[in-house]
Amino acid sequence: METPTGASGILTGDEYHGNFDANTYLKDYYSTPEGNPEEEGLLPFWLNTLHEIFTKEGLSGDRLIDIGSGPCIHHLISACTKFSEIVCSEYVEDNRNAIKRWLNDDKDAFNWKPIIQYVCELEGHSEVEAREKTLRSTIKEVVPCDLYKNDPIEPHKFPQFDCLLTCLTVEAACLTNDHWKQAIKNMSNYLKPGGTFVQICEPAKFYSVGEKKFAAHNVSDEFVKSAVLEAGFKDLKCHYRDRVVNLNECKGIQYDFSIVLTATKM
Ligand SMILES: C[S@@+](CC[C@H](N)C(=O)[O-])C[C@H]1O[C@@H](n2cnc3c(N)ncnc32)[C@H](O)[C@@H]1O
Repeated sequence: METPTGASGILTGDEYHGNFDANTYLKDYYSTPEGNPEEEGLLPFWLNTLHEIFTKEGLSGDRLIDIGSGPCIHHLISACTKFSEIVCSEYVEDNRNAIKRWLNDDKDAFNWKPIIQYVCELEGHSEVEAREKTLRSTIKEVVPCDLYKNDPIEPHKFPQFDCLLTCLTVEAACLTNDHWKQAIKNMSNYLKPGGTFVQICEPAKFYSVGEKKFAAHNVSDEFVKSAVLEAGFKDLKCHYRDRVVNLNECKGIQYDFSIVLTATKM
């Protein structure tokens, strides 16, 4: 697939490099457990749902891969107690470096403590530092990833994983229905048969990072589900949340709903 080029000042494809600023994205969307005010509660919805999937329902295994991590680790806070190895992957080098700074506990690393504390409280304790330590030791690698490649993480090769997680990345990278479906099929190759796919999805017209706008693909929840089923998954379960804000008030991101789905690879 060729990477797309942007239109009317909305960035996409190669334009991510040098334009997507990790610190600005983290400040805009992950400064507090409440998340970005324009998303009115989406971040707690995602954290609560991941808590339900990994901690309460007990999704577990040996190895998990995250496709399109961004500069983020929030979606791995629940999972890291249930898997012994996590591989993060991300398109933009600045984002990979932001994760590495946090893993190294660098002085200028993003402060994920408030969000880790939120997840610890869901679990009924306040062992934030212990969870940071667990997450830091469970993330073994942060590798490049490009959903425009059939093998998005090549040249890296890993044995198939027990769980594949992807958050808000397919809708940002894949701007046609065909590419979206192909990307889900391509990434499914990283999962063992019987392994679990977890997708957090927020289809949108665009989203902002500071003053810059990035393209997104706005699809229905039926489409999101059908792409997963067509890629060879079964037992699809879906957590759904409607947008609750008035679209006219949303200048930074325009979305209608978010879903978190899980499915089993056949
Ligand atoms: C909205 S951010 C999501 C980041 C993070 N997963 C989160 O939950 O906040 C979209 C991500 O898609 C990534 N992305 C954009 N184009 C991509 C491509 N061709 N292949 C893989 N990832 C891409 C961006 O680098 C960015 O990290």
